[in-house]
Amino acid sequence: MKIYKSISLKGKILCPPDKSITHRAIILSSIASGISIIDRYCMGKDCKVTLSIMKNLGVKIEKISKSTIIIQGVLIFSHKKKINCQNSGTAIRLLSGLFNSLKVNCILYGSQQLSLRPMKRIAEPLKKMGAKFFLKSNNFSPIIINRVKKKLAIRYELPIASAQVKSSILLSSLRGKETTCIIEREKSRDHTERMLSYMGANIVVSNKVVKIKKGVLFPINIKIPGDLSSAAFLIVAAILIKNSFINIKNVGLNDTRTGILDALLKMGAKIIIKNKHVIANEKVGDIIVCFSKLRGYNFSGENIVRMIDEIPILVLAATQAEGRTIISGVSELKVKESNRIKNLATELNEMGAKIKVEKDGFVIFGRKRLIFSLLNSYGDHRLGMVLVVASLIAKGGGFVRHSLIFKDSYPDFINHLRVLGCNITLFDE
Ligand code: S3P
Repeated sequence: MKIYKSISLKGKILCPPDKSITHRAIILSSIASGISIIDRYCMGKDCKVTLSIMKNLGVKIEKISKSTIIIQGVLIFSHKKKINCQNSGTAIRLLSGLFNSLKVNCILYGSQQLSLRPMKRIAEPLKKMGAKFFLKSNNFSPIIINRVKKKLAIRYELPIASAQVKSSILLSSLRGKETTCIIEREKSRDHTERMLSYMGANIVVSNKVVKIKKGVLFPINIKIPGDLSSAAFLIVAAILIKNSFINIKNVGLNDTRTGILDALLKMGAKIIIKNKHVIANEKVGDIIVCFSKLRGYNFSGENIVRMIDEIPILVLAATQAEGRTIISGVSELKVKESNRIKNLATELNEMGAKIKVEKDGFVIFGRKRLIFSLLNSYGDHRLGMVLVVASLIAKGGGFVRHSLIFKDSYPDFINHLRVLGCNITLFDE
């Protein structure tokens, strides 16, 4: 993909639908007591994987318009031994929990990329809940789940801040007669809790403690809110490109996800939120953002989990800020779709940035001019999108290899940039 340097971003975009909320809407509707209607769902490859897995297990899913599906929940799933989760960490981790509570014995596996991501983090609590779990080298997929015992309730303190682990336990608890109690040290995204409570589950959330037990889930009728993690690429592009002024409509503004907005505001970005409202228990609003001069800042601690997927684009913003930015406590980035600490620093430094990799983060020395490079996305959608935005501000633009990877989460990414005025040529379109 060839990206030409941009002179400004201008216009209005409807934010692409949220990937995390779409996964949850598909999974929870599949076990609800009736027909759910899911409108404006994320059509990224990761969510399509979850959709087709549920279909293959006997859930009736029908597309009734370009952007709407209806899902008829079922109580008993048909038997399927091997389940391919492709690249999706959310699918494999959430479905492991669900299949444990539904007593579906199966093997969950995925792409080479997925097989490198840690799974012990879900095996530990799920084993305590009665699953017989086998992992490759005690930590990696394929995962073999075999239910043996009846116990489905635990009290569990999460050793790492992870919404996927928390959600896996919540899904595994849905048929437990006793109460499961999950305690978080840092509050991770809470879409599962919000949707469960919206669907009438027996769930009580009090800040970092979640309690859940068996209950009926009523079907939902939901228009999926926009994905701030995807919008973040457009937001940072508008901040970094002179004369830009854009409006991103219908962005999800759940407090557990808005760390990136707080971070950019602290660095001096001009961001305004308008038209705030609530859809299906989730805050939503429009984000208006324009070119802004940024200054360096230090980020660590609890706020990191609120922007874990946005750290790579924040690093790019920091390369253009006045002064130094330190981002620490982000070791989790090493086990995402690729090692985002190492790979991001390598590619942006290749373009002229000055980023020092630390044990658990980055030190970024600001206001460095980026220049044309031949860039590698490492098959990681979020890295690929950061490199596209970096190329939009680089002298001579940029060339990104494996460019179609953005389709995992944000299939319209290039179209949206074009609508806002960018010039991009896709060779593998
Ligand atoms: C997600 C949780 C986060 C995030 C991922 C989606 C989710 O992962 O990075 O993109 O939908 O629950 P962790 O829970 O592993 O931090």
